[in-house]
Amino acid sequence: MEKLTLDDIKEYLETKYIGRDIIYLDTTTSTNDIVKEMAEKGASEGLIVIAEEQIKGRGRMGRRWITGKGKALAVSILLKPDIKPDICPSITSLIALSAVKAIRKATNYDIMIKWPNDLVLNNRKLGGILTEMSMEGIKVKYIIIGLGLNINQEVFDDDIKNIAVSLKSFSGKNFDRRIILSEILNYFESDYENFKRYGLEYFVEDIKRYSIIFGKDISVIDGNKIVNGKVVDIDKEGGLILKTSEGELRKIISGDVIMEGLYNIYTNKI
Ligand code: BTN
Repeated sequence: MEKLTLDDIKEYLETKYIGRDIIYLDTTTSTNDIVKEMAEKGASEGLIVIAEEQIKGRGRMGRRWITGKGKALAVSILLKPDIKPDICPSITSLIALSAVKAIRKATNYDIMIKWPNDLVLNNRKLGGILTEMSMEGIKVKYIIIGLGLNINQEVFDDDIKNIAVSLKSFSGKNFDRRIILSEILNYFESDYENFKRYGLEYFVEDIKRYSIIFGKDISVIDGNKIVNGKVVDIDKEGGLILKTSEGELRKIISGDVIMEGLYNIYTNKI
């Protein structure tokens, strides 16, 4: 099993500050929690924490996240951008795009984004993103981006086996996690720099191009609300614009997407 320390990845890493400080752990609770701890102690922007196993790996909406030991990627990045809290969800769309470009480059597979924060391969879930932020007054103190990616797992637990995919389960091939990780960090640093300069607007065309739900009829579930419609746009903040059957335009900023032919976390089926 390849390790993921800075020494192990530095030959592939082209960044200036993202991933130049790496905490690499065998086992931890959740890499997001370790980044939080370090941020509270004053760690600098760009710190990343990687773990081979997470005992309390977290997904969105309080779900759990399993990381196949030595076979997957569980990484969290510390960011300290000078942005307003309402811009934070854009960071999720941004890293989703960077990761898609990076994994496409490393594999040539047709990786897509399932809004807002899933990576999809072959209509199944390849990875997910959990962005968390800490505030100081009305300002963003720091942001933690957690990325979980299925790479070399061959089997999945029963509760996710119908919805999850790894690069290996799709192709039968093993992938070098050092290269995948480095490519993601390389793309992300350059995208993050442009994001700070130009905002998410700069990336919206690419986000639409790689969106598996763009132009499709979907349902979005947010708590106990459900909205049905066709995805007609993704706006410059990363929000979904749905056209309902009554012809009304609705902007959606969060929720789980249900689409025919795509994995469904509520039924555990395609
Ligand atoms: C989701 O799809 O619901 C998001 C999954 C995010 C998982 C990653 S793995 C690294 C980081 N640490 C965590 O506890 N969660 C994120």
